[in-house]
Amino acid sequence: MAAEEGQWVLMATGRSPTNIAVIKYWGKRDEALILPVNDSISVTLDPDHLSATTTVAVSPSFPSDRMWLNGKEISLSGGRFQSCLREIRKRAQNVEDEKKGIRIKKEDWGKLHVHIASYNNFPTAAGLASSAAGLACFVFTLGKLMNVKEDCGELSSIARQGSGSACRSIYGGFVKWCMGKNNDGSDSIAVQLADETHWNDLVIIIAVVSSKQKETSSTSGMRDSVETSPLLQYRAQTVVPERVLKMEEAIKSRNFESFARIISLVEKWNQSEGTPQVAYTFDAGPNAVLIAPNRKNATLLLQKLLYYFPPQDNDLRSYMVGDKSILSDAGLKSIEDVEALPAPAEMKTPSQKFKGDVSYFICSRLGAGPKVVTDESLALIDSVTGLPKGV
Ligand code: ADE
Repeated sequence: MAAEEGQWVLMATGRSPTNIAVIKYWGKRDEALILPVNDSISVTLDPDHLSATTTVAVSPSFPSDRMWLNGKEISLSGGRFQSCLREIRKRAQNVEDEKKGIRIKKEDWGKLHVHIASYNNFPTAAGLASSAAGLACFVFTLGKLMNVKEDCGELSSIARQGSGSACRSIYGGFVKWCMGKNNDGSDSIAVQLADETHWNDLVIIIAVVSSKQKETSSTSGMRDSVETSPLLQYRAQTVVPERVLKMEEAIKSRNFESFARIISLVEKWNQSEGTPQVAYTFDAGPNAVLIAPNRKNATLLLQKLLYYFPPQDNDLRSYMVGDKSILSDAGLKSIEDVEALPAPAEMKTPSQKFKGDVSYFICSRLGAGPKVVTDESLALIDSVTGLPKGV
């Protein structure tokens, strides 16, 4: 270690997207290594709308590893953070920052401690896969700071040990997590099926129903399913493998009809039109994720959604997060426009409305994988104190 011993802080900042599974991961065959009972497929969302940003700092003056999430200190002692830290540290390489006169030899990483600050640009407990974005970012950014040379597949396998679905947030676009067969988990990695430019007409609208912490964690929900449901084995062994093949084919050929059928048995609108106009999926939480094949269908969908779920406080702009331009595309510039929306013709009980049931909507699209944030002013840690900014 060079520079004046103990005087320096070296940092890296990264940003990682969240992802929404269209073929779900549900059930583990190994709880410690986080090995799933089936393959899964996801879409990565635009990090401008839903992502984690993480700064990792190292300094000889840090007496221990510490972490802050959204400005509050959290414990790093959990097995999942520890697994990721251990696996990245094992692979750390020599690092040299000529400008700062800092040199870290790979064998020194074991003696150095890190400070990690992370921030999610969306509600952490809203059931929007924050741990996927968070753990992917944790692994990606630690890897950058420690000059880890492993490829995305290897990083995905480390991120998987932090949070299963985090392995899919290591890539943009469409991603498959291959369950693997090996007991040590070495072949349970994610691969990119297609990048974010491949099918970029897709519009993703999320109806955030509840920003509260979910009552049943995914871990305990999965454990209950594995222990009590005879159908889970059937799903994993018979239903999913066939669906994964169909989904891969649908993505490859941008076949929305096939994509939508697989995700769900789409509702009245789709029935009334005869072909799917929009697809939907749910993760382990109440929020609905709606996928439209193009802007036109997304605007029609939004008109129907806002007819039934108008904003409680009449504030339309803050009711739509992410790509707000979908509102004007749908001809909805003011609350009066929402109030004047016609009842969707295909519904039998058009007069019933559900004001207040949706907290807000997010409009997003396909997004890219993790990226280094090079603008040092965006780092979450102060380069002099080594502590989170504003703490
Ligand atoms: N869990 C939820 N969000 C997270 C983040 N940004 N980093 C680490 N863990 C998380």
